[in-house]
Amino acid sequence: MVSTAKPKSSRSKEPQNEGDIKAFWDQQAFIHGGSDLATNPDQHYRVLEIDSILRVISAMNPETILDVGCGNGHATLQIAKKFPEVMVTGVDFSEKMIAQAKRRIIPNVDYFEGDVLSLSRNKHIVDQKYDVVLSSRCLINLANWEEQKVGILEMRKMTAVNGHLILVENVQDGLDNLNNLREKIGLEPIKAPWHNKYLPQSDLTKFLTEIQGNLLTTEYVENIGNYYYLTSRVLYAKICKDQGVEPDYNNPINAIAAKMPTLGEYYACSPNFMFVLKKEEAQWDTKKLSS
Ligand SMILES: C[S@@+](CC[C@H](N)C(=O)[O-])C[C@H]1O[C@@H](n2cnc3c(N)ncnc32)[C@H](O)[C@@H]1O
Repeated sequence: MVSTAKPKSSRSKEPQNEGDIKAFWDQQAFIHGGSDLATNPDQHYRVLEIDSILRVISAMNPETILDVGCGNGHATLQIAKKFPEVMVTGVDFSEKMIAQAKRRIIPNVDYFEGDVLSLSRNKHIVDQKYDVVLSSRCLINLANWEEQKVGILEMRKMTAVNGHLILVENVQDGLDNLNNLREKIGLEPIKAPWHNKYLPQSDLTKFLTEIQGNLLTTEYVENIGNYYYLTSRVLYAKICKDQGVEPDYNNPINAIAAKMPTLGEYYACSPNFMFVLKKEEAQWDTKKLSS
């Protein structure tokens, strides 16, 4: 998640291995418990993100949902409450996050431990398929685009045919657009946190185009909260800089900006994108069998 605080360096630490990233999330669970702050410090953005997720799920009518990288279940629980007829399952590789999530069980929600990179081999969900598979800011914790592609394909395996994969992830180009605006008024660029690798837009677009109509079809793309980012990370950030004060996520300007509608595709200056992908039956060329 993009911070409003002034970046200290290009990354606060060099990229870490998976053990370090898991240790980071375990620690977040330890520090913040069941609070939404465990998985995102910006509570205004979080409301916008969950609203977008609930809106697209409302249009799908699923019976089962798998929330991959569910953290302490903050969003999972809201999905389960909004859709009480739907069975919602959360999975996360941090046992500390899962322990927190399990403290707030309701009848249509359950949780288990698992890694997105080996989801289809997880003993808890062998042979299971879900109508909706969701990843909100899970893939950005993987080491590189190669792993992120594996994560997408693993989640595809868990999706029912004609079901949907919803990716809510940070994209580097959205952050670059935001930083272009910041640069124009003398603000330093915001850098991705050390434990995140934002998805590379060109590789992602190429990949989604290649598999379109075969493995996954892109049905909808949304740049979540771009008006909010414009206000909080550019206008408000500039006021703070000029006044020599640290930005506060909960200031009234951000609260107002979070109520404004999105700018749509006009200027994708939010790093956060939602991709709604439909799972297609894998096609294969039967003519090749006879040759
Ligand atoms: C930014 S948090 C988002 C949590 C949750 N989706 C939400 O919206 O509150 C990222 C979560 O992904 C989990 N995660 C990171 N890498 C993972 C992996 N390889 N497999 C499963 N979960 C992972 C972390 O433990 C963390 O809980």
